[in-house]
Amino acid sequence: MKLFLDTANLEEIKRINELGLIDGITTNPTIISREGRDFETVIKEICSIVEGPVSAEVISLEAEGMVEEAEKLAKWAPNIVVKTPMTEEGLKATHILKQKGIKTNVTLIFSVAQGLLAAKAGATYISPFVGRLDDTGIDGIQLIAELRQVLDTYGLESEIIAASIRNITHFQEAALAGAHIATIPGTVFPKLWSHPLTDNGIKSFLSDWEALQNKLNV
Ligand code: E4P
Repeated sequence: MKLFLDTANLEEIKRINELGLIDGITTNPTIISREGRDFETVIKEICSIVEGPVSAEVISLEAEGMVEEAEKLAKWAPNIVVKTPMTEEGLKATHILKQKGIKTNVTLIFSVAQGLLAAKAGATYISPFVGRLDDTGIDGIQLIAELRQVLDTYGLESEIIAASIRNITHFQEAALAGAHIATIPGTVFPKLWSHPLTDNGIKSFLSDWEALQNKLNV
């Protein structure tokens, strides 16, 4: 399973990238706005740190505008993936971009039907939003499992990015449900490697070790 970081914060990206765990980055206009800096500068800086795919989202609502934005974004770095919205216009743009050889990540997917259409339109990645679905009382993880089943059944090439991951359970269950990728916020990522029993274990090993040293020195 590939791991993406769902952030545009350079400090988070640099810190976690040093662990060798990051296969790519996803952003959206909200994530970019949190940085309070110029979109192009931020995306280019991210692309200079991370070799894998970096998703940057278009803001046009018409296919023509999306394609125009996408062509501009794709020139910023070779690893840019253009995020298009899951709308009729977004599907049209995704189809055109596929023909132009520009990679896409179709975002805001909340149903099997939407995921299947995005994959058929030629999306490189499809992003079902687990946390936002859970917020409405619908099981986001079940959508991941169903999308994986549909992609495999029909031999569709898109990869599923489990997005809107809010906690460790989301991450683990997305992995078990067959997501190809999980995109994880910088605030959630450290929780994946932490466990209180690990911390307690280290503490007790060290105190037992010190006790032995004291005994031997006496
Ligand atoms: C990633 O591609 C999505 O934009 C992101 O995961 C959305 O997360 P949120 O629902 O926590 O805003």
